[in-house]
Amino acid sequence: MRSLRPLEVLFDRSRGRRVPLSPALARVYGPLRLPRPSRRPFVLGNFASTLDGVVSLNVPGASGGGDITGFEAHDRLVMGLLRAVADAVIVGAGTLRAVPRHLWTAEHVFPRMCREFAELRLRLGKPAFPLNVVVTARGNLDLTLPVFSSGAVPVLIVTTARGAGRLPSTDLPPTARAVVAGRSDRLTATEVLAAVRAAGRHDVVLVEGGPHLIGDFFGEGYLDDLFLTLAPQIAGREASGKRPGLVAGRIFAPDHPLWGTLVGVRRGGSHLYLRFGFPESPGGVHTRPSKTATPPRTRRTAAGFHP
Ligand SMILES: NC(=O)c1ccc[n+]([C@@H]2O[C@H](COP(=O)([O-])OP(=O)(O)OC[C@H]3O[C@@H](n4cnc5c(N)ncnc54)[C@H](OP(=O)(O)O)[C@@H]3O)[C@@H](O)[C@H]2O)c1
Repeated sequence: MRSLRPLEVLFDRSRGRRVPLSPALARVYGPLRLPRPSRRPFVLGNFASTLDGVVSLNVPGASGGGDITGFEAHDRLVMGLLRAVADAVIVGAGTLRAVPRHLWTAEHVFPRMCREFAELRLRLGKPAFPLNVVVTARGNLDLTLPVFSSGAVPVLIVTTARGAGRLPSTDLPPTARAVVAGRSDRLTATEVLAAVRAAGRHDVVLVEGGPHLIGDFFGEGYLDDLFLTLAPQIAGREASGKRPGLVAGRIFAPDHPLWGTLVGVRRGGSHLYLRFGFPESPGGVHTRPSKTATPPRTRRTAAGFHP
């Protein structure tokens, strides 16, 4: 197996504790720093974008992040690394529909370094796999997909009362649960995070999108650090604009622009691996909603889930 060339660290102003990476991971990525655990989870985002700002080609069979980066190995490694340090990985149902056979674990996205990822989690005192969290308002999910039925990776479906009523009645392994986190048609990021926190201790939460879900996390001021892979590709858009950018369904600028701070730049060939930090309450404009949202309700029956 050909070993990966180290990413070139062009700039790194990240702060916090150095994550104890194995020599093999440190050789390729360089130092990874994360803040010490605090009163709320540290929320990371991870996305890949083309030079013209497209994050999904929106073409059947070619709408995942891999089509954006050209399945670049360094990008897979960075995704794996972030999943390896995460207690939970959150995705919206749209992202699951784009890659229905996916599992949000480090090993799944970059099996070449599965041993290093497993050892890292052990060293960090984390269970073998991060909690996979799927957010859905409508509850229109295929519960036979691997993410729900693996029996190995814990999964939490976070939904509305209406969505829970619509979840199919399918026998699921004990590793899968559903919670009702809100009464309205959509969930707030506060409600999603409260559901995740109610499921156990979660110091590092990774949001892998898609554009609608991450828009909510940005909008409520929760996204602390964004890891953005910039792929040297121009994807193009039709005039109808069906190819989304990083955020969908929310408008920030010009009234409430969200300005980030460059924290890191790494280079792997012609791909750039950027890290930006965002303030908790961007520009003092967005006030963070109360973190003490009503705890979600969970009930599991043999036949499925009900609110
Ligand atoms: N390039 C990248 O790095 C990257 C990363 C992630 C995703 N993507 C791409 O983005 C595309 C999907 O875009 P998307 O915006 O549809 O993704 P998404 O945000 O994952 O999915 C939207 C769906 O997720 C659920 N959802 C999201 N936020 C919710 C909220 N606050 N409350 C309740 N439900 C919520 C809803 O599901 P229901 O419809 O079930 O109610 C909603 O229709 C895919 O092609 C995917 O591959 C790209």
